Amino acid sequence: MYAVLFVCLGNICRSPLAEAAFRRAADEAGVSVKIDSAGTGDWHVGHPPDHRARAVALKNGVDIGHYRGRQVSPEDFRAFTHIIAMDHSNLVNLEELRPADATASLSMLLDHVPGRAGHSVADPYYGHEEDFDRTWSEVVAGAEGLLRTLRG
Ligand code: 4NP
Repeated sequence: MYAVLFVCLGNICRSPLAEAAFRRAADEAGVSVKIDSAGTGDWHVGHPPDHRARAVALKNGVDIGHYRGRQVSPEDFRAFTHIIAMDHSNLVNLEELRPADATASLSMLLDHVPGRAGHSVADPYYGHEEDFDRTWSEVVAGAEGLLRTLRG
């Protein structure tokens, strides 16, 4: 069984939205997969997602108010089959954290979207509602692409 962990910086904006979009995509496809999200930083451990992330999710039919922030750990590289970074800086941080016996594959979310490999999901934290709308459409495209990757 696949186990997918989405990772951003704070675990309050992008990765919870990616988690929500992928939960829905996997559900609709009838694919059974363990799904979680985490941050490379520890500032928001135990916190709910940013209110703007909660709002854009709700607007698109998903309630993420019960999600809580946590920090990624070396153990995650053994517990998950896929660790998915939102941006290039997350990827660099994850490569530094990766233990020698890691079994998880590491990639960026948009690597799974045709024509967008190597691109980052932009950080909306210092942005506005329209930036969160853009994040939502990017994570939805990424979730659908990742599902195609997993299904081969
Ligand atoms: P995220 O956004 O990585 O998408 O959750 C951010 C959240 C918090 C901060 C930066 C980005 N911060 O600086 O606290």
